[in-house]
Amino acid sequence: MIEKMKEAMHTRHTVRKFNGTPLTETEKNSLNERVAKLNEKLSLSIRLIESEKSPLNMMGKVVLRGEGVSSYFVLAADDRAGIDETLGYASSDLVLFAQTIGLNTWWMGGTFNRKFVSTFVPGKKVAGIVAVGHGKTQGVPHKSKSPDAVSSYSGEAPAWFKEGVDAALLAPTALNRQLFTIKGEGRKVSLTYKSGPMSDIDKGIVKHHFELGAGKENFDWAEG
Ligand SMILES: Cc1cc2nc3c(=O)[nH]c(=O)nc-3n(C[C@H](O)[C@H](O)[C@H](O)COP(=O)(O)O)c2cc1C
Repeated sequence: MIEKMKEAMHTRHTVRKFNGTPLTETEKNSLNERVAKLNEKLSLSIRLIESEKSPLNMMGKVVLRGEGVSSYFVLAADDRAGIDETLGYASSDLVLFAQTIGLNTWWMGGTFNRKFVSTFVPGKKVAGIVAVGHGKTQGVPHKSKSPDAVSSYSGEAPAWFKEGVDAALLAPTALNRQLFTIKGEGRKVSLTYKSGPMSDIDKGIVKHHFELGAGKENFDWAEG
């Protein structure tokens, strides 16, 4: 499974047009199982929703020309300290898992109808939604910063560190900002993210990607 998730980091790209084919029962069951595990492990309230009404707002529909979005994860939880980072981390697991079963995704922090979507998770904080379905295309790789621009290692960088940084650069980030800095020394790795809108969510997604690339057994997170 880890190998498939690693492969998915390379094949996943944002897709904003879906072909309208509903998720199959098998796909729904797999996604719901994954959601249930994350909710239990991380105390979250994420839901997979299918609705006839589009969850996109005007920006998503008219400006970005999103199409065929009828199934989506609502990234929700009880509000608490650090919750955006945790929801970001969980969302990264979901987008990559969806990719491993042949589905495409679109992370949205701004271009969705928050009021409508919130009705599915009363009283919870909603960090965003992730559209999931059968894409009309597979999307294209995003423009990326170089490893040197976002990372440094004290001494000769081990292979696992480089693989972690490469994985971090494949992560989706809001507006593709990639505003993170990863520093390593021995087994210690710190990740800081330039503060701004949705930076905590991005931080969780990038951490999840780094862990997959580097291998959790090879390092320990240090406070950034
Ligand atoms: C936290 C977050 C919020 C995002 N919000 C939006 C959004 O509101 N609308 C949108 O079209 N894309 C949104 N995106 C998608 C990013 O623009 C996209 O992930 C980024 O450009 C990198 O491209 P990639 O996903 O193809 O690698 C968001 C991504 C993240 C991680």
